[in-house]
Amino acid sequence: MNSSANARIYIDTKRAISEISPLLFSGFAEHMGRCIYEGIYDPASPHADQNGFRKDVLAALRELNYRSMRYPGGNFVSGYHWEDGIGPKELRPRRRELAWQSIETNQFGTDEFLQFCREINTEPMLAVNMGTGSIQDAANLVEYCNAPAGARFSNMRAANGHREPYGVKYWCLGNEMDGPWQIGHLDALEYAKKAREAAKLMRLHDNAIELVLCGSSSSQMPTYPEWDRIGLEHCWELVNYHSMHYYAGNLAGDTPSYLALNAVLEDYIDSVSGLLRYVKAKARSKHDVYLSWDEWNVWYKAREPKDMRGNWTETPHLIEEVYNLEDALVVAQWLNLFLRKADVLKIACIAQIVNVIAPILTKGNNLLKQATYYPLLMFSQMASGNSLDVLVESPRYETKEYGDMPLLDVSAAYDPAANKNTIFIVNRSLAERVPLEIRWQDAKPKRFASAQQLAGDDPKAANSWDNPNQLITQAIDTPRIIDGAAQLSLPPLSFTALSVEF
Ligand code: AHR
Repeated sequence: MNSSANARIYIDTKRAISEISPLLFSGFAEHMGRCIYEGIYDPASPHADQNGFRKDVLAALRELNYRSMRYPGGNFVSGYHWEDGIGPKELRPRRRELAWQSIETNQFGTDEFLQFCREINTEPMLAVNMGTGSIQDAANLVEYCNAPAGARFSNMRAANGHREPYGVKYWCLGNEMDGPWQIGHLDALEYAKKAREAAKLMRLHDNAIELVLCGSSSSQMPTYPEWDRIGLEHCWELVNYHSMHYYAGNLAGDTPSYLALNAVLEDYIDSVSGLLRYVKAKARSKHDVYLSWDEWNVWYKAREPKDMRGNWTETPHLIEEVYNLEDALVVAQWLNLFLRKADVLKIACIAQIVNVIAPILTKGNNLLKQATYYPLLMFSQMASGNSLDVLVESPRYETKEYGDMPLLDVSAAYDPAANKNTIFIVNRSLAERVPLEIRWQDAKPKRFASAQQLAGDDPKAANSWDNPNQLITQAIDTPRIIDGAAQLSLPPLSFTALSVEF
């Protein structure tokens, strides 16, 4: 098909890939820059509630409806002693925090985080320190969170005002331990053995927990995918998920290629999925391990050393990336990919949730929603049920990096409980409208229930404090559905989310 032709999407609501795990719409909060302090927790703010949490931030996080939240890092966790962050606040130590060279006051710790999760109705996902921390420290934290009162660490929790166990289900076995930058970095075999022993001890406290093994910190690492194979072969039966991390960017200033980056991301997830099958087959195992893409986002503009060092101050402004339209379209396509890979991908956490490479920013008493906020919102609100294997015929375009690529990137879902079909479409074209026919093959929808779009002329346009609503979702007019088909026209540089009722 050439670039002036029409596009077609064929939908069969019975052609399911898999049920969509709600945890694909999860977040990540790290003690870094102004994510926790001045982001989530700011007792001095006029927005603070009785716990010191910013109510305006809580409201935005509730709207995004993150289903789980990974915490406390990131690189931070590899030097973190969780006992610093519990008990009376005036007794908690101020520490020189080495990952981001900042001062950590420890005024927010495990109990505050778990309270915060309750406030925004999200499942906590705690990471343990596999850098400077021991396997004993990791097991003690599980006891603190999940064991009934009556022993040393569970009694500490009760003494801190939380008699009932929290029952934290999701746990990460460290963070990016393959990275030479990581505090206490380990080679693959060292990590595999430590993770296995930590998992064993943690499970002795609570065998209902689900564990995430560290995978490579990106597909670009020289040790990828051997790192992943070694970890998985050692830990297969003890873990439930294997992590992936990736940060995207347009350093080359090549927007057509940047908008086709899903080619790389799709290849990454397919390779790691292949590895899971290989290890399972080699182990002759009946156990399954799924993927947890627990750090993903665009991050390339605020990447200088000065953006990542806090100069030993509290709450420095670190990596406060500003997101534009092309970034939002990359985020929308990443979410499309998550739906298309819903059979193997069960958790995905955008990194991060406020101020630090985040969809929302705070400044004084104000809050700004960045362009990336809107695709997250649309998916979180609309994608449920089963993801669908749809057939897409799309005009194509030429990219420097990936050759010939389709102009449209598409995912879809069908929720049998609501009898609702949602379709998510990115038009990657910088200049061309794409006429589109959607044809339903097994059932005839009655009408569009909702149709929303994020679009603009300038890929570099971004929301700012002076112009906060330049990029927001708009409701669009929808055509009638006649004989199981509808005709639309998608503007260039757009993301459209449609839902139909049967
Ligand atoms: O999210 C910022 C940092 O990126 C995290 O701390 C680390 O895991 C990754 O390299």
